[in-house]
Amino acid sequence: MNLYEFDRLRESSGYSLEGSFTPDLVFSKYWLMQQLDKIKPKISTAYILGSWYGNMALYLARYGQPQVQTIINVESDAKFLSTSKKILDKFGIDNVQYIKQDANDLNYSDLDNNSVVINTSLTDMQGRNWFDQLPQGTLVALQARDHDPGFKFSSADDILTKFPLQQVLYSGSMNLQDPQTEYTRFMVIGRK
Ligand SMILES: C[S@@+](CC[C@H](N)C(=O)[O-])C[C@H]1O[C@@H](n2cnc3c(N)ncnc32)[C@H](O)[C@@H]1O
Repeated sequence: MNLYEFDRLRESSGYSLEGSFTPDLVFSKYWLMQQLDKIKPKISTAYILGSWYGNMALYLARYGQPQVQTIINVESDAKFLSTSKKILDKFGIDNVQYIKQDANDLNYSDLDNNSVVINTSLTDMQGRNWFDQLPQGTLVALQARDHDPGFKFSSADDILTKFPLQQVLYSGSMNLQDPQTEYTRFMVIGRK
């Protein structure tokens, strides 16, 4: 199967490579970087859960704000992971590690006080072990949206209800439009 043939339209931008670069998705990742940079401009390790085509890693590496030493892409689908590696290699981005794994089974061996765990796939990801097993104090950046056939979120507070944080450093929402519909994306950044 060719990646363009993926037709699992669980999210309105689709699962295709092209669909991963719709303006709303690009913009929402820049929104995350802008806010995260204000909180932590220098990051040791960024875990990106549900890394898809490596979009977040691409922007982090090219934009450089925040500065990230090592990016760890965690993706359960081998095809997405291998495509992301090809894309990032083509851009000469060499500070990325690739882990093909269910994020719920991940051993966060490289976490320290300057790390961040990014999950922009809350509506897609089943299970919550990926969150429950994070040490207290871990910095996380989480995004979800409404109008999605996956798990339901209707506000930033909804994210916090499902994934409580001891310290909320940013909480916001943004109205966006994907090829199918207008929707609102929610983001929280904080320490578990
Ligand atoms: C549709 S994509 C990302 C959507 C999100 N709006 C974004 O732009 O980042 C969701 C990704 O999460 C991956 N995924 C879902 N559940 C996962 C899990 N438990 N562990 C690792 N990856 C997972 C999927 O394979 C897919 O690549």
